[in-house]
Amino acid sequence: MALINDNYLKLKAGYLFPEIGRRVRAFAEANPQAKIIRLGIGDVTRPLPPAILKAFHEAVDDLSRVETFAGYGPEQGYDWLVNAVIEKSYKPLGVSLAATEMFISDGSKCDCANILDIFALDNKVAIGDPVYPVYNDTNVMIGRTGEADEKGYYKGIVYLPCTEENHFIPALPTEKVDIIYLCFPNNPTGAVATREELKKWVDYALANEAVIFFDAAYEAFITDPSIPHSIYEIDGAKKCAIEFRSFSKTAGFTGVRCGLVVIPEELTARTSSGEPYSLNKLWLRRTTTKFNGASYPVQRAAAAVYTDEGWRQTREVIDYYMENARIIREGLNGAGLTVYGGVNAPYIWLKTPGGMSSWDFFDKLLTECNVVGTPGSGFGPSGEGFFRLSAFGNRDNVGEAVERIKKNLK
Ligand code: MLT
Repeated sequence: MALINDNYLKLKAGYLFPEIGRRVRAFAEANPQAKIIRLGIGDVTRPLPPAILKAFHEAVDDLSRVETFAGYGPEQGYDWLVNAVIEKSYKPLGVSLAATEMFISDGSKCDCANILDIFALDNKVAIGDPVYPVYNDTNVMIGRTGEADEKGYYKGIVYLPCTEENHFIPALPTEKVDIIYLCFPNNPTGAVATREELKKWVDYALANEAVIFFDAAYEAFITDPSIPHSIYEIDGAKKCAIEFRSFSKTAGFTGVRCGLVVIPEELTARTSSGEPYSLNKLWLRRTTTKFNGASYPVQRAAAAVYTDEGWRQTREVIDYYMENARIIREGLNGAGLTVYGGVNAPYIWLKTPGGMSSWDFFDKLLTECNVVGTPGSGFGPSGEGFFRLSAFGNRDNVGEAVERIKKNLK
Protein backbone atom coordinates (compact mmCIF):
# COMPACT_ATOMS: atom_id res chain seq x y z
CA MET A 1 0.00 0.00 0.00
CA ALA A 2 1.36 3.39 -0.95
CA LEU A 3 1.68 5.81 1.95
CA ILE A 4 1.51 9.59 1.72
CA ASN A 5 3.87 12.07 3.29
CA ASP A 6 1.84 12.66 6.47
CA ASN A 7 3.69 15.91 7.11
CA TYR A 8 1.40 17.55 4.56
CA LEU A 9 -1.54 16.85 6.85
CA LYS A 10 0.00 19.10 9.49
CA LEU A 11 -0.43 22.12 7.22
CA LYS A 12 -3.24 24.25 8.50
CA ALA A 13 -5.11 25.93 5.68
CA GLY A 14 -4.55 25.98 1.94
CA TYR A 15 -1.62 28.03 0.71
CA LEU A 16 -2.43 31.68 1.46
CA PHE A 17 -2.81 33.09 -2.05
CA PRO A 18 -5.01 30.36 -3.54
CA GLU A 19 -7.19 30.71 -0.44
CA ILE A 20 -7.57 34.44 -1.07
CA GLY A 21 -8.26 33.71 -4.74
CA ARG A 22 -11.00 31.28 -3.74
CA ARG A 23 -12.71 33.86 -1.52
CA VAL A 24 -12.44 36.56 -4.17
CA ARG A 25 -13.89 34.27 -6.84
CA ALA A 26 -16.83 33.40 -4.60
CA PHE A 27 -17.48 37.11 -4.00
CA ALA A 28 -17.15 37.94 -7.70
CA GLU A 29 -19.61 35.20 -8.68
CA ALA A 30 -22.14 36.46 -6.17
CA ASN A 31 -21.54 40.12 -7.18
CA PRO A 32 -20.87 40.14 -10.91
CA GLN A 33 -21.26 43.93 -11.12
CA ALA A 34 -18.44 44.61 -8.61
CA LYS A 35 -15.32 46.16 -10.13
CA ILE A 36 -12.76 44.33 -8.04
CA ILE A 37 -9.27 45.77 -7.68
CA ARG A 38 -6.62 43.22 -6.77
CA LEU A 39 -3.76 44.40 -4.59
CA GLY A 40 -3.36 41.06 -2.85
CA ILE A 41 -0.73 38.77 -4.28
CA GLY A 42 2.45 40.57 -5.31
CA ASP A 43 1.95 39.88 -8.99
CA VAL A 44 3.30 42.33 -11.55
CA THR A 45 1.00 44.00 -14.07
CA ARG A 46 3.31 46.01 -16.37
CA PRO A 47 4.34 44.43 -19.68
CA LEU A 48 7.91 43.26 -20.17
CA PRO A 49 10.18 46.16 -21.16
CA PRO A 50 10.84 46.29 -24.95
CA ALA A 51 14.56 45.41 -24.79
CA ILE A 52 13.75 42.29 -22.80
CA LEU A 53 10.90 41.34 -25.05
CA LYS A 54 13.11 41.74 -28.11
CA ALA A 55 15.75 39.39 -26.66
CA PHE A 56 13.01 36.94 -25.72
CA HIS A 57 11.58 36.95 -29.29
CA GLU A 58 15.03 36.61 -30.84
CA ALA A 59 15.82 33.65 -28.60
CA VAL A 60 12.60 31.94 -29.64
CA ASP A 61 13.64 32.53 -33.26
CA ASP A 62 17.02 30.97 -32.47
CA LEU A 63 15.12 27.77 -31.77
CA SER A 64 13.76 27.81 -35.33
CA ARG A 65 17.17 27.42 -37.01
CA VAL A 66 19.55 24.48 -36.95
CA GLU A 67 22.58 26.77 -36.51
CA THR A 68 21.21 28.57 -33.45
CA PHE A 69 19.01 25.89 -31.95
CA ALA A 70 19.54 25.30 -28.20
CA GLY A 71 18.71 22.02 -26.47
CA TYR A 72 19.68 21.24 -22.90
CA GLY A 73 21.71 24.08 -21.45
CA PRO A 74 24.01 23.93 -18.43
CA GLU A 75 21.87 22.96 -15.43
CA GLN A 76 23.24 25.87 -13.41
CA GLY A 77 22.58 28.46 -16.11
CA TYR A 78 24.34 29.87 -19.16
CA ASP A 79 27.63 31.68 -18.54
CA TRP A 80 26.44 34.78 -20.37
CA LEU A 81 23.60 35.24 -17.88
CA VAL A 82 25.63 34.32 -14.80
CA ASN A 83 28.41 36.70 -15.81
CA ALA A 84 25.95 39.51 -16.61
CA VAL A 85 24.41 39.24 -13.13
CA ILE A 86 27.82 39.14 -11.46
CA GLU A 87 29.14 42.13 -13.43
CA LYS A 88 26.05 44.32 -13.38
CA SER A 89 24.36 43.44 -10.15
CA TYR A 90 27.03 42.29 -7.68
CA LYS A 91 30.23 44.03 -8.75
CA PRO A 92 28.80 47.55 -8.26
CA LEU A 93 28.10 46.54 -4.64
CA GLY A 94 31.74 45.63 -4.14
CA VAL A 95 30.85 41.92 -4.13
CA SER A 96 32.96 39.66 -6.34
CA LEU A 97 31.62 36.23 -7.16
CA ALA A 98 32.92 33.39 -9.30
CA ALA A 99 30.56 32.06 -11.98
CA THR A 100 30.56 28.69 -10.19
CA GLU A 101 28.96 30.34 -7.17
CA MET A 102 25.73 31.22 -8.99
CA PHE A 103 22.88 28.91 -10.04
CA ILE A 104 20.17 30.17 -12.38
CA SER A 105 16.75 28.66 -11.76
CA ASP A 106 13.14 28.86 -12.81
CA GLY A 107 12.21 31.05 -9.86
CA SER A 108 13.00 31.87 -6.31
CA LYS A 109 9.98 30.24 -4.69
CA CYS A 110 11.25 26.82 -5.82
CA ASP A 111 14.79 27.65 -4.73
CA CYS A 112 13.69 28.72 -1.24
CA ALA A 113 11.83 25.43 -0.97
CA ASN A 114 14.35 23.12 -2.64
CA ILE A 115 17.35 24.33 -0.67
CA LEU A 116 16.08 22.26 2.26
CA ASP A 117 17.06 19.13 0.32
CA ILE A 118 20.73 19.57 1.16
CA PHE A 119 20.29 20.12 4.91
CA ALA A 120 19.71 17.52 7.62
CA LEU A 121 16.28 17.40 9.23
CA ASP A 122 17.64 17.87 12.71
CA ASN A 123 18.81 21.41 12.00
CA LYS A 124 17.05 23.96 14.20
CA VAL A 125 15.40 26.52 11.92
CA ALA A 126 14.46 30.12 12.75
CA ILE A 127 12.00 32.11 10.69
CA GLY A 128 10.42 35.52 11.05
CA ASP A 129 6.81 35.99 12.04
CA PRO A 130 5.10 37.27 9.92
CA VAL A 131 6.92 35.69 7.01
CA TYR A 132 6.67 34.66 3.35
CA PRO A 133 4.65 31.44 3.94
CA VAL A 134 6.93 29.30 1.76
CA TYR A 135 9.67 29.23 4.42
CA ASN A 136 7.33 27.88 7.08
CA ASP A 137 5.25 25.50 4.99
CA THR A 138 8.18 23.83 3.24
CA ASN A 139 9.77 23.04 6.60
CA VAL A 140 6.50 21.45 7.67
CA MET A 141 6.27 19.47 4.41
CA ILE A 142 9.77 18.11 4.71
CA GLY A 143 9.10 16.86 8.22
CA ARG A 144 11.13 19.22 10.34
CA THR A 145 8.22 20.16 12.61
CA GLY A 146 5.58 18.75 14.89
CA GLU A 147 1.97 19.87 14.80
CA ALA A 148 0.89 23.52 14.91
CA ASP A 149 -0.41 24.91 18.18
CA GLU A 150 -3.69 26.85 18.38
CA LYS A 151 -1.93 30.06 17.31
CA GLY A 152 -0.39 28.45 14.26
CA TYR A 153 3.19 28.01 15.51
CA TYR A 154 4.68 24.65 14.52
CA LYS A 155 6.57 22.71 17.15
CA GLY A 156 10.27 22.60 16.39
CA ILE A 157 10.55 25.94 14.55
CA VAL A 158 11.94 28.99 16.30
CA TYR A 159 9.75 31.97 15.42
CA LEU A 160 11.22 35.46 15.52
CA PRO A 161 8.43 38.00 16.00
CA CYS A 162 8.59 41.08 13.78
CA THR A 163 6.44 43.66 15.46
CA GLU A 164 5.81 47.39 15.56
CA GLU A 165 7.96 47.49 18.72
CA ASN A 166 11.04 46.10 16.98
CA HIS A 167 10.26 47.97 13.74
CA PHE A 168 9.63 44.58 12.11
CA ILE A 169 13.30 43.61 12.46
CA PRO A 170 13.55 40.40 14.49
CA ALA A 171 15.83 40.10 17.50
CA LEU A 172 18.54 37.42 17.47
CA PRO A 173 17.21 34.08 18.71
CA THR A 174 17.73 33.39 22.38
CA GLU A 175 18.37 29.71 21.69
CA LYS A 176 20.99 28.33 19.32
CA VAL A 177 19.69 27.80 15.78
CA ASP A 178 21.38 26.32 12.71
CA ILE A 179 19.44 27.87 9.83
CA ILE A 180 17.99 31.38 9.74
CA TYR A 181 15.68 32.78 7.07
CA LEU A 182 16.04 36.51 6.51
CA CYS A 183 14.12 38.42 3.84
CA PHE A 184 15.07 42.06 3.18
CA PRO A 185 13.42 44.17 1.87
CA ASN A 186 10.83 42.20 3.73
CA ASN A 187 7.80 40.49 2.41
CA PRO A 188 5.25 41.21 3.91
CA THR A 189 6.21 44.17 6.14
CA GLY A 190 8.34 46.18 3.70
CA ALA A 191 11.00 46.64 6.41
CA VAL A 192 14.67 46.85 5.44
CA ALA A 193 17.79 45.93 7.39
CA THR A 194 20.69 48.32 7.78
CA ARG A 195 24.29 47.23 7.41
CA GLU A 196 24.66 47.15 11.22
CA GLU A 197 21.57 45.01 11.54
CA LEU A 198 22.78 42.49 8.97
CA LYS A 199 26.20 42.41 10.59
CA LYS A 200 24.58 41.23 13.83
CA TRP A 201 23.09 38.28 11.96
CA VAL A 202 26.31 37.46 10.15
CA ASP A 203 28.21 37.59 13.44
CA TYR A 204 25.62 35.33 15.05
CA ALA A 205 25.79 32.86 12.16
CA LEU A 206 29.60 32.76 12.21
CA ALA A 207 29.71 32.30 15.98
CA ASN A 208 27.11 29.51 15.90
CA GLU A 209 28.11 27.85 12.60
CA ALA A 210 24.63 28.65 11.35
CA VAL A 211 23.63 29.26 7.74
CA ILE A 212 21.55 32.30 6.75
CA PHE A 213 19.08 31.93 3.87
CA PHE A 214 18.96 35.50 2.64
CA ASP A 215 15.99 36.20 0.39
CA ALA A 216 16.80 39.35 -1.60
CA ALA A 217 13.89 39.04 -4.05
CA TYR A 218 12.98 42.70 -3.54
CA GLU A 219 16.46 44.26 -3.47
CA ALA A 220 15.80 46.25 -6.67
CA PHE A 221 13.14 48.25 -4.84
CA ILE A 222 15.55 49.74 -2.30
CA THR A 223 15.65 53.52 -2.62
CA ASP A 224 17.82 54.40 0.40
CA PRO A 225 21.47 54.23 -0.73
CA SER A 226 22.69 53.22 2.73
CA ILE A 227 20.70 49.96 2.72
CA PRO A 228 22.61 46.85 1.53
CA HIS A 229 21.23 45.01 -1.49
CA SER A 230 23.13 41.81 -0.79
CA ILE A 231 24.12 39.99 2.39
CA TYR A 232 27.59 39.66 0.85
CA GLU A 233 28.12 43.38 1.39
CA ILE A 234 28.73 42.35 5.00
CA ASP A 235 32.19 40.98 5.83
CA GLY A 236 32.15 37.29 6.60
CA ALA A 237 28.78 36.63 4.93
CA LYS A 238 30.31 34.40 2.27
CA LYS A 239 31.18 31.98 5.04
CA CYS A 240 27.65 31.78 6.39
CA ALA A 241 25.00 32.84 3.85
CA ILE A 242 23.13 31.63 0.80
CA GLU A 243 21.40 34.38 -1.19
CA PHE A 244 18.24 34.06 -3.29
CA ARG A 245 17.33 36.52 -6.00
CA SER A 246 14.46 36.72 -8.41
CA PHE A 247 13.64 38.30 -11.76
CA SER A 248 9.93 38.09 -10.91
CA LYS A 249 9.40 41.47 -9.32
CA THR A 250 12.60 43.11 -10.54
CA ALA A 251 11.87 42.58 -14.23
CA GLY A 252 8.25 41.45 -14.46
CA PHE A 253 9.04 37.72 -14.69
CA THR A 254 6.31 36.33 -12.41
CA GLY A 255 4.89 34.49 -15.42
CA VAL A 256 8.19 34.05 -17.26
CA ARG A 257 10.01 32.42 -14.31
CA CYS A 258 13.67 32.99 -13.56
CA GLY A 259 15.59 33.27 -10.31
CA LEU A 260 19.01 32.53 -8.93
CA VAL A 261 20.83 31.23 -5.90
CA VAL A 262 24.31 32.23 -4.78
CA ILE A 263 26.25 29.68 -2.74
CA PRO A 264 29.81 30.84 -2.13
CA GLU A 265 32.61 28.30 -2.51
CA GLU A 266 33.81 28.96 1.02
CA LEU A 267 30.45 28.18 2.63
CA THR A 268 30.40 24.85 4.44
CA ALA A 269 28.21 22.95 6.86
CA ARG A 270 29.11 19.77 8.70
CA THR A 271 28.51 16.13 7.84
CA SER A 272 26.99 14.01 10.60
CA SER A 273 30.51 12.92 11.47
CA GLY A 274 31.60 16.56 11.91
CA GLU A 275 33.56 17.19 8.69
CA PRO A 276 33.01 20.53 6.93
CA TYR A 277 31.45 20.00 3.50
CA SER A 278 30.90 22.45 0.64
CA LEU A 279 27.25 23.48 0.26
CA ASN A 280 28.04 24.69 -3.26
CA LYS A 281 29.16 21.20 -4.19
CA LEU A 282 26.01 19.65 -2.72
CA TRP A 283 23.72 22.12 -4.46
CA LEU A 284 25.51 21.51 -7.77
CA ARG A 285 24.97 17.77 -7.28
CA ARG A 286 21.32 18.34 -6.52
CA THR A 287 20.82 20.77 -9.39
CA THR A 288 22.42 18.57 -12.01
CA THR A 289 20.31 15.62 -10.87
CA LYS A 290 16.91 17.25 -10.36
CA PHE A 291 16.89 20.19 -12.79
CA ASN A 292 17.63 20.77 -16.45
CA GLY A 293 18.03 24.51 -16.30
CA ALA A 294 15.74 27.47 -16.92
CA SER A 295 14.65 27.63 -20.55
CA TYR A 296 16.99 29.18 -23.11
CA PRO A 297 14.67 32.03 -24.23
CA VAL A 298 13.92 32.89 -20.60
CA GLN A 299 17.62 33.15 -19.80
CA ARG A 300 18.17 35.28 -22.91
CA ALA A 301 15.37 37.57 -21.75
CA ALA A 302 16.88 37.69 -18.25
CA ALA A 303 20.30 38.60 -19.63
CA ALA A 304 18.71 41.51 -21.53
CA VAL A 305 17.73 43.03 -18.17
CA TYR A 306 21.43 43.84 -17.72
CA THR A 307 21.99 45.60 -21.03
CA ASP A 308 22.07 49.39 -20.71
CA GLU A 309 18.75 49.76 -22.45
CA GLY A 310 17.18 46.81 -20.66
CA TRP A 311 18.23 48.11 -17.27
CA ARG A 312 16.99 51.65 -17.98
CA GLN A 313 13.60 50.30 -19.04
CA THR A 314 13.49 47.91 -16.09
CA ARG A 315 14.20 50.79 -13.70
CA GLU A 316 11.33 52.77 -15.19
CA VAL A 317 8.94 49.94 -14.34
CA ILE A 318 10.34 49.65 -10.81
CA ASP A 319 9.90 53.41 -10.39
CA TYR A 320 6.32 53.09 -11.61
CA TYR A 321 5.56 50.53 -8.91
CA MET A 322 7.32 52.58 -6.26
CA GLU A 323 5.21 55.59 -7.21
CA ASN A 324 2.18 53.33 -6.66
CA ALA A 325 3.64 52.48 -3.26
CA ARG A 326 3.93 56.18 -2.45
CA ILE A 327 0.32 56.82 -3.51
CA ILE A 328 -0.95 53.97 -1.30
CA ARG A 329 1.26 54.87 1.65
CA GLU A 330 0.50 58.58 1.64
CA GLY A 331 -3.16 58.14 0.76
CA LEU A 332 -3.85 55.72 3.57
CA ASN A 333 -1.72 57.62 6.01
CA GLY A 334 -3.81 60.69 5.18
CA ALA A 335 -6.91 58.62 5.89
CA GLY A 336 -5.66 58.09 9.43
CA LEU A 337 -4.27 54.57 9.06
CA THR A 338 -0.93 53.57 10.53
CA VAL A 339 1.13 52.54 7.55
CA TYR A 340 4.57 50.91 7.22
CA GLY A 341 6.73 49.84 4.30
CA GLY A 342 6.34 51.15 0.77
CA VAL A 343 9.57 53.19 0.79
CA ASN A 344 12.22 50.55 0.03
CA ALA A 345 9.78 47.79 -0.83
CA PRO A 346 6.70 47.32 -3.00
CA TYR A 347 4.53 46.28 -0.05
CA ILE A 348 2.54 48.47 2.30
CA TRP A 349 1.91 47.00 5.71
CA LEU A 350 -0.92 48.72 7.51
CA LYS A 351 -2.46 48.37 10.91
CA THR A 352 -6.10 47.43 10.69
CA PRO A 353 -8.33 50.20 12.07
CA GLY A 354 -9.99 49.81 15.46
CA GLY A 355 -8.13 46.61 16.27
CA MET A 356 -10.09 44.69 13.63
CA SER A 357 -8.78 41.20 12.83
CA SER A 358 -6.85 40.82 9.58
CA TRP A 359 -9.48 38.57 7.96
CA ASP A 360 -12.34 40.83 9.10
CA PHE A 361 -10.56 43.75 7.45
CA PHE A 362 -10.03 41.61 4.34
CA ASP A 363 -13.78 40.93 4.20
CA LYS A 364 -14.61 44.58 4.84
CA LEU A 365 -12.36 45.82 2.02
CA LEU A 366 -13.58 43.11 -0.34
CA THR A 367 -17.29 43.58 0.28
CA GLU A 368 -17.44 47.35 0.90
CA CYS A 369 -14.63 48.66 -1.33
CA ASN A 370 -14.18 45.72 -3.71
CA VAL A 371 -10.46 45.92 -3.00
CA VAL A 372 -8.41 42.78 -2.39
CA GLY A 373 -5.41 42.80 -0.07
CA THR A 374 -3.69 40.15 2.00
CA PRO A 375 -4.56 39.57 5.65
CA GLY A 376 -1.47 39.94 7.83
CA SER A 377 -2.34 36.88 9.89
CA GLY A 378 -1.90 34.78 6.75
CA PHE A 379 1.83 35.46 7.09
CA GLY A 380 1.97 34.28 10.69
CA PRO A 381 0.42 34.95 14.10
CA SER A 382 2.35 38.22 14.64
CA GLY A 383 0.75 39.53 11.44
CA GLU A 384 -2.64 39.53 13.15
CA GLY A 385 -4.10 43.04 13.17
CA PHE A 386 -2.14 43.97 10.02
CA PHE A 387 -2.90 43.95 6.33
CA ARG A 388 -0.69 43.99 3.24
CA LEU A 389 -1.33 45.92 0.05
CA SER A 390 0.80 45.30 -3.01
CA ALA A 391 2.08 48.19 -5.14
CA PHE A 392 2.19 46.05 -8.31
CA GLY A 393 -1.22 47.14 -9.63
CA ASN A 394 -1.76 49.50 -12.50
CA ARG A 395 -1.79 53.20 -11.60
CA ASP A 396 -5.49 53.88 -12.20
CA ASN A 397 -6.52 50.92 -10.09
CA VAL A 398 -4.16 51.87 -7.30
CA GLY A 399 -5.49 55.44 -7.20
CA GLU A 400 -9.07 54.22 -7.33
CA ALA A 401 -8.47 51.64 -4.56
CA VAL A 402 -6.98 54.28 -2.29
CA GLU A 403 -9.93 56.62 -2.91
CA ARG A 404 -12.43 53.86 -2.17
CA ILE A 405 -10.68 52.92 1.08
CA LYS A 406 -10.36 56.57 2.17
CA LYS A 407 -14.07 57.16 1.53
CA ASN A 408 -15.01 54.00 3.36
CA LEU A 409 -12.98 54.88 6.43
CA LYS A 410 -14.25 58.48 6.69
C1 MLT B 1 3.54 37.56 -2.50
O1 MLT B 1 2.52 38.14 -2.84
O2 MLT B 1 3.90 37.44 -1.33
C2 MLT B 1 4.39 36.97 -3.57
O3 MLT B 1 3.90 37.30 -4.82
C3 MLT B 1 4.46 35.54 -3.50
C4 MLT B 1 5.61 35.03 -4.30
O4 MLT B 1 6.49 35.76 -4.72
O5 MLT B 1 5.62 33.82 -4.46
